[in-house]
Amino acid sequence: MAEKILLVDDDLDTLRLVGLMLQRQGYQIRAASDGPQALAMVESEIPDLILLDIMMPDMDGYEVARRLRANPRATDVPIIMFTAKAQIDDKVMGFEAGADDYLTKPIQPRELIAHMKAVLSRVQKRQTSAPTSTETPLERGYMVGVISVRGGLGVSTVALNLGIALHQEQKKDVIIADFRPGQGTIGLELGYLRSDAINRLVQRKPTEISARDIENEIITHPTGVRLLLSSHHPGDARYLNAVANFEAIAVHLVRMARYVVLDLGTGLSPINEKIINICDEICIVVEPVPQTLIQSKALLDDLIAKGIGEGRIDIVLVNRVRSGVQLSWSQVQEQLGKNISVIFTPAPELAYQASMHNLPLISQQPDSLTAQQFIKLAEKVAQRNQ
Ligand SMILES: Nc1ncnc2c1ncn2[C@@H]1O[C@H](COP(=O)(O)OP(=O)(O)OP(=O)(O)O)[C@@H](O)[C@H]1O
Ligand SMILES: [Mg+2]
Repeated sequence: MAEKILLVDDDLDTLRLVGLMLQRQGYQIRAASDGPQALAMVESEIPDLILLDIMMPDMDGYEVARRLRANPRATDVPIIMFTAKAQIDDKVMGFEAGADDYLTKPIQPRELIAHMKAVLSRVQKRQTSAPTSTETPLERGYMVGVISVRGGLGVSTVALNLGIALHQEQKKDVIIADFRPGQGTIGLELGYLRSDAINRLVQRKPTEISARDIENEIITHPTGVRLLLSSHHPGDARYLNAVANFEAIAVHLVRMARYVVLDLGTGLSPINEKIINICDEICIVVEPVPQTLIQSKALLDDLIAKGIGEGRIDIVLVNRVRSGVQLSWSQVQEQLGKNISVIFTPAPELAYQASMHNLPLISQQPDSLTAQQFIKLAEKVAQRNQ
């Protein structure tokens, strides 16, 4: 099938001439004469490659590239910057904005096509060698659900960084899925401003959701983990009643990667009641505060009553603030009647820096104590999976 190329240039002669030349080479051409038009076109149809001019009124090519990279649907689309700006600084800025290649005008058609072919074939190779082909489903992977009893205790942070630690330490394929429509923060923390992957899946009939549909919504983060993101728009919380859809997604996910980590948010909602049964392990995030521990103990008891054996439950204590007036870890264990698997020490500066840079804590400072604590948690999870 002919590859679809989106040409973006405010110069209509360039659009016409390059467009015609590429059409003769058998490509399907779409054309946009400014940045906003290009972004709108990508929303309705993802091209195979974008040829992007830099100097355009209203929104320049750098900004278009940045917005495409921040859009999970378009984050992997190859971009070749094609511009009269030939300074080294311009090129560096182009690559920093997310371009895969950079060409300066004027250019010979043969050279342009050679670059396009090289970029397209790299992408095709990446896609065919992706570790999870949906044609050949893996046997069951290992699914960890991360949960707490209240908001803000660190569930999303643990889910994301545990996933990355598993990928880095165990060298295994990992999917991290945010199961919190309307309250998703994993995408937001990583700088993906549009994260409606789950929204699109929950609008289908549960029986019609295939592994391929899910695969199409998954994006790959630079750390190598794959992400299925939820939106952060409060109104999308209406999808919290799509229990059968989430169940269908979880059943597929567990066969799509060696490890799957789910951000389940808080409490035993109708979705979580179902999903915990699909999980191999539940990680309960707690804080050293008496009332939270009373609730956490109740959650622990509920899970056990529902048949999740104690051997499948990890307690993770996240201390977010330095304070002498919180309970000690031994008091936490006493209140819960269960040992803590990993203790996270307060790291407010690291959390702030990571958030400012749109990085996971573990990437912001790979040699930090916090990173080591995530590695320890990943080791515990991997041990249980043996
Ligand atoms: N060890 C830590 N030290 C200090 N701050 C932390 C630590 N771990 C996480 N945080 C911060 O605590 C805040 C809450 O974390 P997070 O968003 O992961 O919680 P959550 O339980 O997912 O909350 P929500 O209910 O909003 O989904 C974040 O700002 C995060 O950066
Ligand atoms: Mg969260």
